[in-house]
Amino acid sequence: MRRIMILNAKGGSGKSMLATNLASYYAWLGKSVVLADLDPQQSSLGWLSVRGDQYPRILGIELKDGRLRIPGKPDYLIMDTAAGSFGQSLANLVRRAHSILVPVQPSPTDLRAAARFVHDLLVVGRVSRKQTRVALVANRVRQNSDMMGSVQKLLNSLMIPFKTQVSQNEQTMEEFLQMFKIPLIATLSDSIAYQSADAKGVGLFELEEAEGIKEKWQWQSLIDWLASRKSLPVASKNK
Ligand SMILES: Nc1ncnc2c1ncn2[C@@H]1O[C@H](COP(=O)(O)OP(=O)(O)OP(=O)(O)O)[C@@H](O)[C@H]1O
Ligand SMILES: [Mg+2]
Repeated sequence: MRRIMILNAKGGSGKSMLATNLASYYAWLGKSVVLADLDPQQSSLGWLSVRGDQYPRILGIELKDGRLRIPGKPDYLIMDTAAGSFGQSLANLVRRAHSILVPVQPSPTDLRAAARFVHDLLVVGRVSRKQTRVALVANRVRQNSDMMGSVQKLLNSLMIPFKTQVSQNEQTMEEFLQMFKIPLIATLSDSIAYQSADAKGVGLFELEEAEGIKEKWQWQSLIDWLASRKSLPVASKNK
């Protein structure tokens, strides 16, 4: 069973969007999928509740007394989480996953929050030991936008590891995120296709073939990463 978690302390970054689309993608492929909603807001379970019977089944579960009871042995366990996780509760969440996707939106405020969150994640033992693998996903990207110097200063003050110093003038969101020690694996557009899928309880790949074609292509690198060894724990590999 592959355990994939969507996590970012920042609210509204696209966690539930990623969780529901990923669950629907694997279900659409014919895999057995459990979607665990660890958020009391229950957006993912809400999405599932409007999903019609004509679509491949996804089993929704929630925390009971702090525990997740996973029925059977699904191929994929996709976990949606609540905003605001840090400290011990963050470490407890990380333990549940092989791979964590962190959706990040391109506004300076979101990037600043993401920088802090990545910092918090990198100090979790499992992440630093690569027992849980983390990747960033740029979400709701409209165009390449120059990043503000204040964000870079903030990164410096947090002592977040940089690969390179990129000139601020030329710095795009992608380049900014690539400075983190964790990979940026996909850039997803801000698109009405996600809202339209969300309203129907389906994912992008379950929309009409002609709908959201560009958006579907943008998922390829994310799916490739999740299928690669880079997304698996170094010690236990899988299972
Ligand atoms: N790429 C996108 N294009 C268009 N709309 C999007 C995209 N990603 C997310 N949204 C919309 O943005 C809103 C917030 O997304 P979502 O609910 O997935 O965030 P979240 O991180 O789960 O929020 P919360 O922290 O409240 O749980 C939703 O209305 C969602 O449909
Ligand atoms: Mg959510």
